[in-house]
Amino acid sequence: MSAKIISGTEIAKQIREELKQEVQEMKEKHGVTPGLVTILVGENPASVSYVTAKQKTAHDLGFYSVQDNQPEDISEEELLNLIDKYNKDPKIHGILVQLPLPKHIDETKVINAIDPDKDVDGFHPVNVGRMVIGERCFLPCTPHGILEMLIRTGVETSGAEVVVVGRSNIVGKPIANLMLQKREGGNATVTVCHTRTKDMAFHTRRADILIVAAGRPKVITADMVKEGVVVIDVGVNRIGKTPEGKAILCGDVDFDGIKEKAAAITPVPGGVGPMTITMLMKNTVQAAKQFAGLA
Ligand code: GUN
Repeated sequence: MSAKIISGTEIAKQIREELKQEVQEMKEKHGVTPGLVTILVGENPASVSYVTAKQKTAHDLGFYSVQDNQPEDISEEELLNLIDKYNKDPKIHGILVQLPLPKHIDETKVINAIDPDKDVDGFHPVNVGRMVIGERCFLPCTPHGILEMLIRTGVETSGAEVVVVGRSNIVGKPIANLMLQKREGGNATVTVCHTRTKDMAFHTRRADILIVAAGRPKVITADMVKEGVVVIDVGVNRIGKTPEGKAILCGDVDFDGIKEKAAAITPVPGGVGPMTITMLMKNTVQAAKQFAGLA
């Protein structure tokens, strides 16, 4: 068996079409243009490429979009003041500070400084708390994208054994939480594995749906999964460069080995990545609607 390839690129394209229409309507009927600022501190190449992609997408969807580049040595206070400025700016509905930040800046302080109503990353403790309870909130973009992919691909999550590899605040913890909630794309039995898990393969072999956000290339191999598993690979690892200088990417799972056993699998690139950016746009549209009293 060769797995169905779950194309994040295709699903993201569908959602972007839906969003484009929604934005046009918001503009025409209500005079509201969703506004997004992405703040980049320093010049980390991966961060530069993520932020550039986010800005391009925002622009393509007809947003008011601002790219705010700050030097590596900006002080914590200056960054907090900048966030305060955007918190007060009525044209801006969504604020994204690209992580990681330089060591001299406390990431938690920065995240906590963003107005929760503009926290389109869904990282502020108010949004995290609302997510855990199941209240309306901004869902973090990568887990939100994974849910959409599973729902739109028709993967049955209710009663499924879901195994998550990784326990980061950005992916592992929130996706584990969302998948156990009583909602569409949830109702699963969830296990979370991490660096201290004693026998990783014991758990991964039981998975009907395996979500891997380990942050290390190809840590999940074909012998660690069962026939018919659905694999969501969140990893983006830069393992070299082409002669033209383009990054060569691979995921956290051994795609070539596992695709022969899996029922469905996401590729890298073209899987979760495009979904993450798209859900940021969806959150920004939601923020603008809430701001304007339309939702
Ligand atoms: N760095 C890696 N992923 C993300 C993300 O989803 N949001 C932000 N702000 N920074 C990131």
